[in-house]
Amino acid sequence: MLFGDVSEELARRVLEALRHVTGIEPPSALVRASARSGVDYQCDLAMSLGRSLGKPPREIAADIASHLDVADLAEPPEVAGPGFLNFTLRSSWLEDRTTAVNDDPRLGAAVTTRPRRIAIDYSSPNVAKEMHAGHLRPTVIGDAIARLLRFAGHEVIPHNHLGDWGTPFGMLIEHLLDERPSGPYTLGDLNDFYRAARSKFDTDEDFATRSRQRVVLLQGGDEETLSLWRHLVDESTRHFAEIYELLDVGLSSEDVYGESFYNPFLAAVVDDLTSAGLTEISDGAVCVFPDGFRNRDGEPLPLIVRKRDGGYGYAATDLATLRYWTEQRGVTDLLYVVGAPQAQHFAMVFAVCRAAGWLREEHRAEHLGFGTVLGEDGRAMKTRAGESIRLADLLDEAVSHAAEVLEDRDDLSPGIREEVARAIGIGAIKYADLSGDRERDYVFSWDRMLSKTGNTSVYLQYANARIRSVLAKADQDLTGARVLLGHPAERALALALARFPEAVGAATAGHLPHKLCTYLYETAAVFSRFYEQCPVLAAEGPGVRDSRLVLAELTSKTLTLGLSLLGISTPARL
Ligand code: ARG
Repeated sequence: MLFGDVSEELARRVLEALRHVTGIEPPSALVRASARSGVDYQCDLAMSLGRSLGKPPREIAADIASHLDVADLAEPPEVAGPGFLNFTLRSSWLEDRTTAVNDDPRLGAAVTTRPRRIAIDYSSPNVAKEMHAGHLRPTVIGDAIARLLRFAGHEVIPHNHLGDWGTPFGMLIEHLLDERPSGPYTLGDLNDFYRAARSKFDTDEDFATRSRQRVVLLQGGDEETLSLWRHLVDESTRHFAEIYELLDVGLSSEDVYGESFYNPFLAAVVDDLTSAGLTEISDGAVCVFPDGFRNRDGEPLPLIVRKRDGGYGYAATDLATLRYWTEQRGVTDLLYVVGAPQAQHFAMVFAVCRAAGWLREEHRAEHLGFGTVLGEDGRAMKTRAGESIRLADLLDEAVSHAAEVLEDRDDLSPGIREEVARAIGIGAIKYADLSGDRERDYVFSWDRMLSKTGNTSVYLQYANARIRSVLAKADQDLTGARVLLGHPAERALALALARFPEAVGAATAGHLPHKLCTYLYETAAVFSRFYEQCPVLAAEGPGVRDSRLVLAELTSKTLTLGLSLLGISTPARL
């Protein structure tokens, strides 16, 4: 075969054998990597079929095994326990695979045969406010998911759903007018600017009135108001761009589709929903009550499409957004990387869009929620004064912590040291965010994320740099070198490397980057056991040194590609 996803290939063969034995149109089969010694993969399909086939699972497993054709890659499968099928890959196949894949830039991971056009909404901060620690997750997770999907061969269209529209802009623009002398003006600290506007709005009656009138002007398209609004958006976008640059996140100004972008479509959204008979007037507001959504008292929950004052809110904009991407941009999938508290909002938006026909059978829409970043006290991370932490400060602190780690490294030039500090610090923050199941909360800890041991990017970056230095020392052309698996630690490493396609596949299919992190961490650990037990540069015996160098090189390539799919760089020297 192909040197692609082994578990997928074994599953395909199991299903083929099952079809042959039973004639049934088989359900899907799951073949998992196994941690048992001597067993590389395991399949439990027979156990789930016992009841429906009226046969002991062990017998079904034996039937499957006797018709299973895997001789090219595995030993004859064994039936174990209550009806498991156990597989052990042939070492000669692993040798061929490792040798061949070392020349493959994709390291054995196939390109999808069913590419989709995927719009992914991520980061999505609000204008005239600085990005804070809470924006780390939607930005970092979204970027990793986008990279994984692109690598799989899908067309990925990122869009940044900036909060750049609505009532707060009345007060922000009025405040800008009050503050702005003539000539160019920068907002300076966005948070201070927002806070000042807010407090004036709350205390100054005249200002509040002017602000409300300003909202009307903005929505009516008044030229002067729009140009002031654009100034606010541009200043904020500049700030976001700096953060994205520092984070190495691939969002640019071309990917901005702010709430304002959908403004021209809002009236048509209401019209369409109304003529489809989906709307009701409730309390003067135009609402849709999608099936199956109730509040705590069991009453139907509305999605408000147009407020009683004629204005449109967050929900209306998301309806227009989805309608735009499926109808006008022809996307097949919509992904939203937005905090878990908005789960119900998205479920309702999807339900209404399905009823309206904007989301059809062929489309997939999914809200990819995530948990909260907690401080060491177990509560949402805040400064001592109880304020939210500016993301820019957090990133600067990460880089300076990393610089401390490198302080005594006189062998690195100051320029390189700075570059490496950035790779370590930013990598650590991103990896800490990505390495746990995204749906869970996690505790933010500098010590833990910057540790050279454990499941951290620093550990992986060091492991990679160490391998690169061995390879540099060997300074050897490895073209034509063959992998030989004589030692169990060599075989274990080749097996770990063969699992790269399935790890990437699982992380991509489930939109779960932590699965790739776990894989990379385990692979680096398998490498260090190999390195302890098998001398590389001082290897003896014909071809052994070359073979071990290839194993080391492929490990480095795997760590480098894997981390790059998470948006993390791998300096050659640390
Ligand atoms: N700006 C919003 C916030 O800060 C997030 C927007 C998420 N995307 C969306 N299509 N609603 O909460």
